[in-house]
Amino acid sequence: MLKPPYTHYDQLFVYNFDRIDLGLIDDPDLIGTWIEDDTAILFFHEEKQKLVESICQRSGAKILYEANLNYQDWEAGLDITTFSVPPLIVAPLWEVDQLTDTTKDIPIYLDPSVIFGSGFHPTTRLCLQVITDMLSSGPEEIQTMVDLGTGTGLLSLGAAKLGVKQIRAYDNNPFACSVADKNVDLNSCGKQIQVMETDLRGALPDTNVDLVVANLYRGLLLDFFQNPDFWNARYYIISGFIPSMEEELLAALPMNQLKLLERRKSDTWRLWLLANSPA
Ligand SMILES: C[S@@+](CC[C@H](N)C(=O)[O-])C[C@H]1O[C@@H](n2cnc3c(N)ncnc32)[C@H](O)[C@@H]1O
Repeated sequence: MLKPPYTHYDQLFVYNFDRIDLGLIDDPDLIGTWIEDDTAILFFHEEKQKLVESICQRSGAKILYEANLNYQDWEAGLDITTFSVPPLIVAPLWEVDQLTDTTKDIPIYLDPSVIFGSGFHPTTRLCLQVITDMLSSGPEEIQTMVDLGTGTGLLSLGAAKLGVKQIRAYDNNPFACSVADKNVDLNSCGKQIQVMETDLRGALPDTNVDLVVANLYRGLLLDFFQNPDFWNARYYIISGFIPSMEEELLAALPMNQLKLLERRKSDTWRLWLLANSPA
C-alpha cells in the first residue's frame, strides 16, 4: 500500500518467491507481500535485484518469476480514477485533493493498492450499485452485513457510509486485509467494520446478518450454496460468475426458501440479489 514518500502507483516490480518464509523485509519501496498457496509475491515501486538476491541467499528461496509492469497494465489497462455510484463518490488517494465539497456526495477514500476492489471491475461496480440501491431506497433497514472476500474493503466501506452498523469483512489474503484495514482507517469506519483474515474454504463465518455480499468465484460459491449454514441471512448479493456458470449455480440454490429479486449484468459478468424466507 502507499506509504510516504509515495503518493500513487507508477511502475510495479514484482518478484514471486517459491516460499513464504523470507524473513523480515523492511524496505521503503515495498508495496506489500501477497501470499498465494506456499509462495510469496513481493510488489515494489522500484527495481530490487540486489535485495532479491540477498533474500534468496539468506532464505534459500528461488525466484519463480519476476515482472516489471506499469500500474495501468496491472489494472487491466484502466486508469484508476475517481468515480461515482450515487450517493457515493470513490476517490483513489492520489485524487482526494480534487474532491469538491458537495453535501450530496458521500466520499470514500481508497488506497486500491494491487488488491482486487479498485471499483473498476464490473463485478465490484455491480455490487456497489446494488448496495447503494438497497441502502438508499430499500424497503427494509440493513444493520448488519458480512462481506465474503473483501479485497480492498470497498463494498464494506460503501455499506458503512450508507449506515450499516456492523460489518464483518473476510479475506484470506493477508495483504488484502492490511489494505482493507488501512482503507477502514482512512474513512474512519473502524467502529463499523471489522476486517478478518480467514480462509473461507471450510470456515464459513456466522451468516445471521441482514445482508451477505459474496463477490467470489464459482467453486467457493458452490461450496457456500450447498452448505445450509450459509442461508441464515435476509438478503444476498452474489457475483463473480459469468453466464456459462449460471445454470450450475442456480441448480445449487435452495429455491424453496429463496427468491431471486434481481439479476444484473455488466460485460460478461452477472450478479444476483436474493431474498431469504426461511421456513
Ligand atoms: C473477486 S475479489 C472481490 C473483492 C471485493 N469484494 C470486490 O468486490 O471488489 C475476491 C476476493 O476474495 C478473496 N478470496 C478468494 N478466495 C478466498 C478464500 N478462500 N477465503 C477468503 N477470501 C478469499 C480474494 O483474496 C479477493 O480479495
